[in-house]
Amino acid sequence: MTKINKTITANISALGMYVPDKILSNFDLEKMVDTKDEWIQERTGIKERRITTDGQATVDMASRAAERLLQTRNISAEEIDIIILATVTPDMMFPCSASQVQDKIGATNAWGFDLSAGCSGFLFALQTGAQFIESGTHKKVMVIGADTMSSIVDYTDRNTCILFGDGAGAVLLEPSTNGFGLIDSKMKLDGSGGKFLKMPAGGSLNPPSHETIDKKMHYIYQDGKTVFKFAVKGMADISYEIAQRNNLQGDDIKLFIPHQANKRIIDAAARRLKLKEEQVLSNIDRYANTTAATIPIGMVEATKNGRLKKGDNLIISAFGTGFTWGATYIKWGLTFDE
Ligand code: UT7
Repeated sequence: MTKINKTITANISALGMYVPDKILSNFDLEKMVDTKDEWIQERTGIKERRITTDGQATVDMASRAAERLLQTRNISAEEIDIIILATVTPDMMFPCSASQVQDKIGATNAWGFDLSAGCSGFLFALQTGAQFIESGTHKKVMVIGADTMSSIVDYTDRNTCILFGDGAGAVLLEPSTNGFGLIDSKMKLDGSGGKFLKMPAGGSLNPPSHETIDKKMHYIYQDGKTVFKFAVKGMADISYEIAQRNNLQGDDIKLFIPHQANKRIIDAAARRLKLKEEQVLSNIDRYANTTAATIPIGMVEATKNGRLKKGDNLIISAFGTGFTWGATYIKWGLTFDE
C-alpha cells in the first residue's frame, strides 16, 4: 500500500462502545481451571474481562455501541449510508450480523456487510469504510468491531480461556476537507499463519457433527507461543513503518492504541516506537482481548478522558488470525464534548 495525497479524508466524527456488565475475574477463573491470578497478570496484563449473559450476543452489543454513537452525534439511524461490522463471532453464519444491526437500530437507508479479519478486523473495516468516504460516494459510514469471544472459548482450556472477553465499539466516518481522519495505512495478510490460531469447525470444511463437538473443534485453537512471536514482530514493524513514512517521532505521536492481546506485545511495539507510557493506551487489565472491539473501545476511552483531542496524531495497530496485521495513522478530528 502506498501513501497518497487525499483531498477528502475519512474523519472519525462520533464514537460509541458497549461492554456487558458481568465481570469474569482472574480469581473466578482460578476456580474453573488450574491457573493463578499472578500468572495471568504477569504473562498477559489481564485482571478481568466482561462476559455476555442471558442469550446476549454480538448483534446486541454492536447495536448498543451503534446507538450510543448516534446519541453522541445527535443524528438518526436513517442517516447512516453503510454499516461495516468486523467480527469473527457473528450471531449466525448468515444472515450477516451487519444486517441485524441495521434492523435493530433502524438504519433504513443503509447497506452493509460483515468483515472477518480477527483481531485486525476493526483496522481492516476502518480502512474499507474510508474508501467509500474518500471516493465521495457515501457520507456516513458506520464501522463497528464487536465480538462475543465467550461463545467460542473453551472454559476448561487454561491456555486460551484467560485471554478473551466480550465487547463492541463503533465509529462514524464522515468526509473532512481539513485533513482530519485516516491519513495513511498499511495492511498485511499471510495465510501461512492460519494454522496457529483458528476455530477449526462450523464452516464448510468441518460442518458441525458429533465428532467435531467431541473433539472440541468449535472452540478457539491457538499456538500461543508462535502467535506471540509473530504478533510482536508484526505489530512493532508495521507501526514503526507507518510512523517513519509520516515523519512521526517520539512526542509527535500523541497516542498509540494497539490491539489488546497481551501487555507484553503492547510494550514491545511501544518500545520500537520509543514511546513513553503516557503515549500508549492499555486497557487489557479490564477487558482482556475483545478481538475486533479492542481499538474502538480504546478510542472511546481515550477521547472521554481527554487523552485524544482534535489535531492529535494517533497510530492504531493490530495483529490477528490469518495472519492479518496492519497500522493506520489518524489525525484525530474529534473532541468529546463537541
Ligand atoms: O489477538 C490474537 C493474537 N493472540 C495473541 O497475540 C496471543 C499471543 N500469545 C500469548 O499472549 C502468550 O503466548 C500466552 C499468554 C497465550 C501464553 O504465555 P507464554 O508466556 O507464551 O506461556 P507458554 O505458552 O509458554 O506457557 C508457559 C507455561 C506452560 O507450562 P509448561 O509447559 O512450561 O509446564 C503452560 O502450560 O505456562 C503454562 N500455562 C499456564 N499456567 C497457568 C499456560 N496457560 C496457563 C495459565 N495458568 N492460564
